[in-house]
Amino acid sequence: MPKPIVYITRKLPKDGLEDLYKHCQVKMHSSQNPPSRKQLLSYAKKADALISVLTEKIDKEVFDVGPNIKIVANYAIGFDNIDLKAAKLAGVPASNTPSNLAANAVAQHAMAVILTIARKLPEADKFVKAGKYQSWDPALLLGDDMNNKTLGIVGSGRIGSSLASIAFKGYDMDILYFDVIRNKDLEKKYKAKKVNLNQLLKNSDYVSLHVPLLPSTKHLIGSKELSQMKDSAILINTSRGPVVDEKALVKALKSNKILGAGIDVFEFEPKLAPGLSRLSNAILTPHIASATHASRREMGEMATQNVLDVLIRGKRPSYEVKI
Ligand code: GLV
Ligand code: GLV
Repeated sequence: MPKPIVYITRKLPKDGLEDLYKHCQVKMHSSQNPPSRKQLLSYAKKADALISVLTEKIDKEVFDVGPNIKIVANYAIGFDNIDLKAAKLAGVPASNTPSNLAANAVAQHAMAVILTIARKLPEADKFVKAGKYQSWDPALLLGDDMNNKTLGIVGSGRIGSSLASIAFKGYDMDILYFDVIRNKDLEKKYKAKKVNLNQLLKNSDYVSLHVPLLPSTKHLIGSKELSQMKDSAILINTSRGPVVDEKALVKALKSNKILGAGIDVFEFEPKLAPGLSRLSNAILTPHIASATHASRREMGEMATQNVLDVLIRGKRPSYEVKI
């Protein structure tokens, strides 16, 4: 029997894909850039399985042109790029890669950005490189402490929980969280307090977003929410761009309504809202919060497992996502 055909819609690190190559004919998109829609549809046409990434919209048209597709395996934690209703109607299971290493990597990135802004690392780096460092100065570039500061975590899933652990154990921070469901583990282990969004924004020194993108979380943080935050607060977004109203964020940063922001995901990725790239109080990174070698390997292994579950083992994918 010929090996089943798997199309991967983006050039991925090969780490973790070894078993996929053993059991399938793997066709990998050859560019670091996303395929055009036409290319994507041509892949779908010939595929027994698709491994997709978060920039590719997987919708009814993809399933219509790809009658042989038996699974769409997203190589990401998030899966808002897949129309799950269309997948269900087409009878195609969808899966993601809920890698613990990726979740930890995102949380570590969030903490790194908080520290970067609070301790003024970009200004300090510029200062030294500009040859301005003449003498130790006790009043130079004073930053904020972490101890006894309040971290507000929006979304207490695996990423939010990992950040709570880092912040509580490593930095002695007080943790507030907002979620639709209670997380007793977080309360017990890290003395986290569940509050509503309003209370979280009012009382947090650092606010970090860890929710999936859903109709209910689009623009969860807009001008009203930003106005509730402390002037000294820092907002971190490593979730999905549209969770924040980016125009409103630019306004809040420009007027120093909040102190700073660490933004890894953008509302209209890869485009930035006008003015955002000129703000010195925003640290901008190109959607790399989960980008570590180990995390990518585990994501590759999970995507492989999902595909082989369906194509080779004849069962449901291990990490299936459902509506
Ligand atoms: C990255 O954003 C992911 O969802 O894994
Ligand atoms: C600073 O370098 C100190 O020794 O306090």
